[in-house]
Amino acid sequence: MNAAQQSARLAKYDVAGPRYTSYPTVPYWEDTPTEAQWLAHVGAALRQSSAEGPGASIYVHVPFCRALCTFCGCNTRVTRTHTIIMPYLQAVLTEYALYRERLGVERLELGELHLGGGTPTFLDPAELDALVGGILSASRLRPGASLSIEVDPRVTTPEQLALLAQHGFHRISLGVQDFDPKVQDIVNRVQSVEQVRTVTERARAVGFSSVNFDLIYGLPFQTPDSINMTMDAVCELRPDRIALYGYAHVPWIKPGQRRFTEIDLPEGRPKRELYERGRERLEAAGYREIGLDHFALPTDSLWQAARAGTMHRNFMGYTDAFTRPLLGLGVSAIGDAVDAFVQNEKDLQQYHERIAKRELPIHRGHVLDAEDQVLRRHILNLMTRMETQWVGPDATPFLDDIPARLAEFAADGLVELDGQGCRVTEAGRGFLRNICMAFDARLARRSPERQLFSQTA
Ligand SMILES: C[S@@+](CC[C@H](N)C(=O)[O-])C[C@H]1O[C@@H](n2cnc3c(N)ncnc32)[C@H](O)[C@@H]1O
Ligand code: SF4
Repeated sequence: MNAAQQSARLAKYDVAGPRYTSYPTVPYWEDTPTEAQWLAHVGAALRQSSAEGPGASIYVHVPFCRALCTFCGCNTRVTRTHTIIMPYLQAVLTEYALYRERLGVERLELGELHLGGGTPTFLDPAELDALVGGILSASRLRPGASLSIEVDPRVTTPEQLALLAQHGFHRISLGVQDFDPKVQDIVNRVQSVEQVRTVTERARAVGFSSVNFDLIYGLPFQTPDSINMTMDAVCELRPDRIALYGYAHVPWIKPGQRRFTEIDLPEGRPKRELYERGRERLEAAGYREIGLDHFALPTDSLWQAARAGTMHRNFMGYTDAFTRPLLGLGVSAIGDAVDAFVQNEKDLQQYHERIAKRELPIHRGHVLDAEDQVLRRHILNLMTRMETQWVGPDATPFLDDIPARLAEFAADGLVELDGQGCRVTEAGRGFLRNICMAFDARLARRSPERQLFSQTA
């Protein structure tokens, strides 16, 4: 395919679309469970997970950051003071206590604990110890439990790393984004290769066995040459996993993104070329592409999970297994009880007020109906295995339309259809979000009145 044909195909499929970290996607949640209903869903998922083995999962959202990176799409709170930290951590631990009390469990059996943000290493060692110690003392860890954290290398110290390792953390994800000084300057995220190297080496020295780097393509001023430069440094530091996220430009939700002009943003074919350049470099260095925008060394458990078909996708990205239920603790955190989702209050003040009233701080949520549950499984299959089959319990009337909805993708060589399923081709990988959109019955029935999602290309 020549350059003009590639551009035409990209333009054809460049629409606003979800990243499918959940189905239904958050803007289509409509049936918020009451606290009692949510606890009933969590309790049922817990009983199933106790019987089947993996234990529950906890995500803690630590929203604080020292300064705003202008590309950021996360729920953050920029602050320089620590006076608000301890009250927040106490609220998070109270939220966990409310769950245990209302579920009638003294200590929750955990298969996964993940600290994300914002920037969990904004917390100093004493604060981090209070949070992690508080959660672990009220939990029972399953053998082989996965404890992981997202860190900003600019604010991560040897003391924090040692403390986390002592608590059993062995996975760490570093926000790297890009190493080109010009790109770093415009997105207000200046950090050196040396800072990243120091944290990577220190983490490995104290026992972290899996290091992930978050990178972004599509940032202002990025070029294939600048991606090359970033990849030189990344391949030398050799993290076990890499997330190479497409920059999600959503300035109507994140006004901070208006701080650079859109003229400087690579879009369409130039943006896709940045991804392709990154992919080529990573594959040449021995990484394998996984799902959407992710890479891992063959020695990493994520690649092994991808091959074994056990990999899962949730609000944090890809994980080795579907550990359920997922309790989201903290402001804006999302919980998943397989057939229901909830998101906590997104405003810090409101989060505190709800906890002070001893309420679970549910802001919104959704109880999945029978069709949602089937379509969720298909979208998860596509996002994790690049294929799905609709037979037996995985059928629902909406799937009857799928061959027609995928016909153009098939004609363009992006999917292969058989009577009972479909498989994404190598060429189709870059259009995975679009292919999943064909399975999104809620989007098909109600087009958004305004733009909700970032562009897919
Ligand atoms: C919570 S941050 C990671 C930890 C820490 N705050 C940091 O930045 O180093 C999560 C990741 O989301 C990604 N991210 C944030 N905003 C994004 C956007 N608009 N588009 C794509 N990826 C984004 C970045 O790669 C970032 O590392
Ligand atoms: S990218 Fe990380 S450090 Fe930067 S504002 Fe977002 S959460 Fe904070």
